[in-house]
Amino acid sequence: KRKQLGFPDHFLWGGATAANQCEGAHLEDGRGLGHIDLVPQGSERWNVMSGTLDSLQQKPNTYYPSMKGIDFYHHYKEDIALFAEMGFKVFRMSIDWARIFPLGIDEKPNEKGLQFYEDVFNELHLYGIEPLVTMTHYDIPLELVKRYNGWESRETIECFKKYVKTILTRYKGMVKYWLTFNEINCITSLPYYAAGVVIRSEEERLQQIYTAVHHELVASAWAVKIAHEIDKNNMVGCMLAAGVTYPYRCAPEDVWLAHASGRGKFFFSDVLVRGEYPEYKLKEFERIGFDIPFFKEDKEVLKNHTVDFISFSYYSSQLVCADQNVIAEKAEGNVFPTLRNPYLKEKDTAWKWQIDALGLRTTLNQFYERYQKPLFIAENGVGGIDTLENGRVHDEYHIHYLREHIKAMKDAITLDGVDLMGYTSWGCIDLVSASTGQMKKRYGYIYVDADDLGQGSYQRYKKDSFEWYKKVIATNGEDL
Ligand code: BG6
Repeated sequence: KRKQLGFPDHFLWGGATAANQCEGAHLEDGRGLGHIDLVPQGSERWNVMSGTLDSLQQKPNTYYPSMKGIDFYHHYKEDIALFAEMGFKVFRMSIDWARIFPLGIDEKPNEKGLQFYEDVFNELHLYGIEPLVTMTHYDIPLELVKRYNGWESRETIECFKKYVKTILTRYKGMVKYWLTFNEINCITSLPYYAAGVVIRSEEERLQQIYTAVHHELVASAWAVKIAHEIDKNNMVGCMLAAGVTYPYRCAPEDVWLAHASGRGKFFFSDVLVRGEYPEYKLKEFERIGFDIPFFKEDKEVLKNHTVDFISFSYYSSQLVCADQNVIAEKAEGNVFPTLRNPYLKEKDTAWKWQIDALGLRTTLNQFYERYQKPLFIAENGVGGIDTLENGRVHDEYHIHYLREHIKAMKDAITLDGVDLMGYTSWGCIDLVSASTGQMKKRYGYIYVDADDLGQGSYQRYKKDSFEWYKKVIATNGEDL
């Protein structure tokens, strides 16, 4: 029996993006406004994202970075050619719901929107690149937020089902790999950004959030059902913001807290992979007095339409401590709060996220041991400052971060036997940052000449990491 020494032969190497962070062209070809179009850059951004500040109307003197993105809408051919030059096997992108159903409630889809994605998929296939398509990367048509408060209302499920049926029918045979909701667990911290839910009052926050969570979970199961009915070859995954949670000390209280915090993420995959709410969550709901708004068909849909694989984003690990009196420094993180881990020796990223490559191996093992399902790393990477000089960008820090994380995933495959389908590093081309709305927080192998206020030529340039990643893919992860 041949022993597997490296990455599997058909490992899906590639990169990831999202419509609201790169397409731009926000009112072109019949598109409607999406709710993220009105999430501003600047000091109010986080309040809007977390649902405490309303952003339903456009305000003067405010910059809205999603409206312009990196103008992928007009550059997609050139961008895909660059991805192909790096040897991408897969490209993760999302479909923008408001481009297909401008108001979300429209009777008929917008043909020009449908055609745009068909053109993109055709272009990818010209180079033998498989699309991995997120049905909703946070964004929903603004009208659904205005009418229904986004995912808080049951009506949004029906609109979503119609949207999903439309795209799965139209792209049958063109797209095989689908993800339902991007980072579905982020709704608990970012109810507006991730689910279009404006929080009415702090007292109602949890009830509102868990109602929306239930609706998204059910909608995700419906999407799996519809996808399999339309084409049994479709493979549909869930997508979580992941990262192992460590206890600050070996005190049992810290170990327990780390375990309980980890459930905050696993809860979502527990439902979507196993098909029912786990006991620990039902008990928590009992304690907080939340009744899951089950409709009669929900349990059956959740139970019978579980996902084919699990995808996740990994940027770093988290650290928690049960004792408030322990003086531990806080650190920045993607979405979840964390303490600074004194054992992480790598210098923080420019946005002060901690770096923990081994944490990726642990995270992969946690998922695999829990579910024994194929996994996919849908996002991973580091955002930093790049300088364009004479058409070149020297971004050794990207290469270093990615190399260490790829080594960790190789260990998970070859030493632990984790079944990993592929890897799409985040922001393979520079794009608008989700948390800050800036352009200067750059993840890409490809530099885009645009600044935080959308000024610039939007020309694309290869960074040093471009050639490096090309070599990684050409050697199937052997030459790092
Ligand atoms: C993930 C999101 O949370 O992290 C992406 O799915 C996001 O949309 C990425 O861009 C990186 O975060 P940021 O804030 O650096 O853009």
